[in-house]
Amino acid sequence: MAITDWVVSAMGRPALFDDTMLEDPYARYALLRETDPVYYASQVGAWIVTRHDDVERVLKDPSFSSVITFEASAATRDPLRHLYAFVHSSLVFSDPPDHTRLRHLVSRAFTPASVGRLRPWIEQTVDELLDGAEPRGRMDFVADFAAPLPLRVLAGVLGMTLDPVEQRRLKDACDNFLLPFGRDPATLADDETARAARAGDALAGAVREALDQAQDRPESLLSTLAGASEDGDRLSRDELFATVVLFLIAGHENLTSLLSNGLVALLRHPGQLRSLRDDPTLWPAAVRELLRLVAPNQFIRRSATMDSRIGDVNVRKGDAVVLVLASACRDPSVYPDPDRFDINREREWPIALGRGIHYCVGGPLAQIEAETAFSRLFTRLPTIRLDTEHIEYAKNFNVRLVARLPVTW
Ligand code: HEM
Repeated sequence: MAITDWVVSAMGRPALFDDTMLEDPYARYALLRETDPVYYASQVGAWIVTRHDDVERVLKDPSFSSVITFEASAATRDPLRHLYAFVHSSLVFSDPPDHTRLRHLVSRAFTPASVGRLRPWIEQTVDELLDGAEPRGRMDFVADFAAPLPLRVLAGVLGMTLDPVEQRRLKDACDNFLLPFGRDPATLADDETARAARAGDALAGAVREALDQAQDRPESLLSTLAGASEDGDRLSRDELFATVVLFLIAGHENLTSLLSNGLVALLRHPGQLRSLRDDPTLWPAAVRELLRLVAPNQFIRRSATMDSRIGDVNVRKGDAVVLVLASACRDPSVYPDPDRFDINREREWPIALGRGIHYCVGGPLAQIEAETAFSRLFTRLPTIRLDTEHIEYAKNFNVRLVARLPVTW
């Protein structure tokens, strides 16, 4: 069953992950935190965990695993072989010691200093998108800005030079690649398998090409990643592919969500926006608060490798656990008056970027990108305003995506 198909409507409990919660899931999270903070959702086959401290504890507990098992062959002729390579060789779906090794190698290329050097490129990419939109006096902020920006930045970071058509193709490939994800391959329609297989081939081709080009640019992030070694150990071909694809996938929709939901929050809180205009050094704190408030990745999963307890509940070895980050980010025991947007709140990174060993590698990039995007946007389009009262959400229960966001200036 796809994680996005989950519908939980157990007696007496608010339904989770159904269409009616797309617009505002937070009232349901609040009710669960209060009445049933760790409950077994039988339709989903997983424990749903909604309190901040429980979520944080599981993320820091090595007895909960990130590994996903795919019951499928890794045969070279299997149409989904690229997907299996991705799942089996990815940082995010591994446990120590594999994770420790991969994370060391990836972190060598993706340091805060190397990400800091990308700032001018990010500014240029933001300005190019705004140059295109500015004379029109209006845009769909999602289609014209929040969706293309992260993928353009990532493609550039990885040394891929793409025209707009190729960017569109790369985005489609990322979306289609994940079609079989979390599903039994036997339940896939033929055309879904074919789309996912084509997407896998397209991504493998794009990564190969980028690696070839990177050989001429030894200072690029991809060259550093390909060459990163520790005691003679390097990323294998599959691991390199999995890492690049993980960057592309983990680093784009989350940011699209942060930028579009973040813009709505900023435009609906003119007082906070005024403070940011008066003192732009507040942007880093504002981005951290926006991450908490909109939590782009609503939940992540783990499985128990031994019997243990979460809160007052006994969890058995093999049980699946869904950690609702978005709920943890609004837990009043950690964030007083949690639904209030307040850029003067605490300065720590919220749990929206995870905790423990899998803590988001791309956090510094996400921060720089969001700061640059918002500060340039409000400088260049000072009269920008929402052109709709109603915010429409895409049908995606995990990444909270605004479908379209008309704005004028
Ligand atoms: C608003 C933006 C972002 C959000 C909300 C976000 C969220 C997260 C979360 C919650 C995790 C932990 C997953 C887990 O524990 O299972 C994670 C891990 C990860 N993120 Fe991000 N992310 C963002 C941006 C990025 C960007 C821009 C990149 C890339 C280049 C990136 C790359 C990764 C990678 C590689 C991991 C896996 C780390 C590991 O398993 O050790 N993320 N992210």
